[in-house]
Amino acid sequence: MKILTIESSCDETAAAVVDDARRVLGSSLATQIDVHKLYGGVVPEIASRSHMEAILPVVADALRQAEITLDELDAIAVVNEPGLAGSLLVGLAAAKALCVAANKPLIAINHLQAHVYACRVAFDEDPFPCVGLIISGGHSSLYRCAGPIDFEPLGATIDDAAGEAFDKVAAMLGLPYPGGPSIQRAAEKGDPKAYDFPRPMLNDHDRLQFSFSGLKTAVRYKLAGVGRVDFSTQKISEQERADVAASFQEAVCDCLVGKAVQALRKCGMKTLCVGGGVAANARFRQKAFEASEKYRFKLFIAPPKLCTDNAVMGAIALERYKAGLFADLDLDVSPGLVRDRDLAAEGIRRSAELR
Ligand code: KG4
Ligand code: ZN
Repeated sequence: MKILTIESSCDETAAAVVDDARRVLGSSLATQIDVHKLYGGVVPEIASRSHMEAILPVVADALRQAEITLDELDAIAVVNEPGLAGSLLVGLAAAKALCVAANKPLIAINHLQAHVYACRVAFDEDPFPCVGLIISGGHSSLYRCAGPIDFEPLGATIDDAAGEAFDKVAAMLGLPYPGGPSIQRAAEKGDPKAYDFPRPMLNDHDRLQFSFSGLKTAVRYKLAGVGRVDFSTQKISEQERADVAASFQEAVCDCLVGKAVQALRKCGMKTLCVGGGVAANARFRQKAFEASEKYRFKLFIAPPKLCTDNAVMGAIALERYKAGLFADLDLDVSPGLVRDRDLAAEGIRRSAELR
């Protein structure tokens, strides 16, 4: 069995061909980082237009690598939620057109479930059931994952996503977009204990929620507090920049790992699967590994390339194929812009139940 998977939820246009053993037969990705870098973040309208240019070449490239034609596919799968509406629509329209042209069934992919499934693709072992932690530019959420497509929300961020905080703090420090890799690089020469930034919500064991906007503001005030009222980082020394980056990164990682441990405890589970761009962060990976040794749980984090957006994690479509869960051709996108907030509310209810 062979499935073509398409990803266009944010600023990466990607396609892959996977077989029923989750082997990757072809994988192609066109990144838009250089375009959005000019603006310090993703510009949705530009993202949609860039997807339009890249989508068919990327699909053709994945098929070419896999040495198969559309006719030889068993299904075509596409991410339809959550993400930027205009970006999702490009992938969905392309997938529908290909389904009609080649008379193939359509499968819908949930981008967040796919991020967790990256762990299933990367390792031989089946990690389910597990707690799923998804940390990306748009989401910071915890789920109880009974199976690959059976997710129950445990909690989420009440304001910024972790990746968003990385991107915004990087901008404050005059570091280029995307902020996560820039901060990680700057932090290598910094002291993580130089500044004692807050760890919001970490000590509130009753609620499985994140909050990063206060931490972001703390960084801003720290920069202003050292005599830079306009927050300009022009005069900041390289060492100060590295110290702020390292201290900020440390605080975010403490919150992410700490809440994941709390979620495992509340659910009585022994396995954690992490996905999303921030899971590529070296310090996060190290801290998560240390926690897994200390608290004795199994940790799955895919290699960095499978943490950031890609189409290989779309192999989750195999699970829907096996379950006979096909989508109709009137499938719509579900951007889910308020989803994290809904999840945060749901998380309060779930945390209360689990208490
Ligand atoms: O999952 P992803 O590629 O796209 C979304 O679904 O949002 O995540 C992108 C986010 C960006 O905010 C980026 O700054 C962050 O992941 N990121 C990182 C690292 N690499 C990417 N954050 C921290 N450290 C990294 N090494
Ligand atoms: Zn993502």
